[in-house]
Amino acid sequence: MSADLVHDLRTALGESAVLTNPADMAAYVTDWTGSFTGAALAVVRPASTAEVATAVRLCAAAGVGVVPQGGNTGLVGGGVPDSFGDQIVLSLGRMRRVREVDPVADTLTVEAGTPLATVQEAAAAAGRLFPLSLGSEGSCTIGGTIATNAGGTAVLRYGMMRELVLGLEVVLPDGRVWDGLRPLRKDNTGYDLKQLFIGSEGTLGVVTAAVLRLLPATPRRATAFVALESVSAATALLPLLREHAGGQLTTWELLGRQAVDLVLAHLPGTRDPFPERHEWYGLVELADTSADVDERLESALGAAADQGLLLDAVVAGSPAQRESLWALREGVSEAQKSEGATLKHDVTLPITALSRFVAEVGPRLLTALPGLRLVTYGHVGDGNLHYNISAPVGDDAALRREAPTLTRIVYDAVTVLGGSISAEHGIGALKRDAAAAYKTGVEVDLLRAVKQAIDPDGVMNPRKVLP
Ligand code: FAD
Ligand code: MLT
Ligand code: ZN
Repeated sequence: MSADLVHDLRTALGESAVLTNPADMAAYVTDWTGSFTGAALAVVRPASTAEVATAVRLCAAAGVGVVPQGGNTGLVGGGVPDSFGDQIVLSLGRMRRVREVDPVADTLTVEAGTPLATVQEAAAAAGRLFPLSLGSEGSCTIGGTIATNAGGTAVLRYGMMRELVLGLEVVLPDGRVWDGLRPLRKDNTGYDLKQLFIGSEGTLGVVTAAVLRLLPATPRRATAFVALESVSAATALLPLLREHAGGQLTTWELLGRQAVDLVLAHLPGTRDPFPERHEWYGLVELADTSADVDERLESALGAAADQGLLLDAVVAGSPAQRESLWALREGVSEAQKSEGATLKHDVTLPITALSRFVAEVGPRLLTALPGLRLVTYGHVGDGNLHYNISAPVGDDAALRREAPTLTRIVYDAVTVLGGSISAEHGIGALKRDAAAAYKTGVEVDLLRAVKQAIDPDGVMNPRKVLP
């Protein structure tokens, strides 16, 4: 059966579009974190929507599951096959064309395998902005950011990917193509189908192209790295930043000292902007087309200092300085990976509950595994913490052993405080069982009903998202 499928895929898509050699497939079956390694019957690399449709149709007919993959930067094991070896990986990597930039509609139409950074550059070349911004933007794809409803460091101002997509083209689990590639801002004709696919993590269909919203370019930026006493200072600063920066406020990020220590230890060229160590840091950025970003940042920081909310602040005086401040924030994922075993918790809470969460959960975790290192950082302006854990120094095995207990402590607290166990990374394989356990029965029933309606034979990304 699988030999027939590989033969049929090669006949339809060409010899070179279907990889079966284990060495050629290696990069497609292990995820970015290194925690998920699976096996695939083949890796299929179509070059067009028609080829994606053919590949999916052949897989559906053969009863073989399809794992869509973009840049393979996902953090929950959703884009790689599991260990059964009975699925194909469908990589969108050859579909990377910006099809159109429309200055009147203010939209950009792009193929799903295009890297996010390429889209940002195409928007900039047209004098516009595509605002989604992630540490992985050089490698992650538009299809992946749609499938995960990615967030990042400018959500505070522009929202998540969901809010930036106007139209989609999707290959359905039976191989039909849904052409929803329209640039319409208004379309109240029943259920919003594109929103079903956004955030579905490859379990409902393969996104092959999208129409994205463009926004005014913001070449003027004012950026500061600030030292804070506590998480509650960071949350108290949010309304103050809004008051002074108004619509210019784009980024309000938080970093605990441990996160900064890992970046300084592992990423060459980074340096501590302050002479003294502090427990907490924030990164704030204002951006605008032409206006007074520097003055507004200054007035916000002045007011914050007057209210005793700041311990210290460094304002970027040049693009190079701005980059070096951003490197401290964007480098945390990479640095934590270099440090060794990592347990990620991408949680979100009502912003006013963040401080209590951090104060209460840290001691519980340290009791469960003395010596663990809390690597806390994230998009505090969105109420989203990356409440990650690194192993006690030299004892990765202990973190792996205690992971279920530690994660339960975190997720129980998130639930009690009215939050969610995934803010932006999604469910994938990592949180599949936990997500079902922490949702209500009604929610799980509705999710299952959607899956059953669109993919009754379970072709798309089997054993992900839903148990
Ligand atoms: P993949 O990893 O290839 O796939 C992710 C999921 O989408 C899988 O379930 C896959 O099956 C599905 N998928 C991929 N392409 C398609 C398609 N065309 N059609 C249907 N399904 C598809 N995420 C954030 O939200 N915010 C962050 O700030 C952030 N920062 C990151 C920083 C670093 C250093 C790294 C490594 C990751 C970060 N991520 C972040 C996670 C990741 O980059 C995003 O989830 C991104 O959207 C994944 O895109 P990708 O193309 O790599 O998708
Ligand atoms: C980030 O915001 O840097 C990532 O989403 C967090 C992570 O890698 O855990
Ligand atoms: Zn993040």
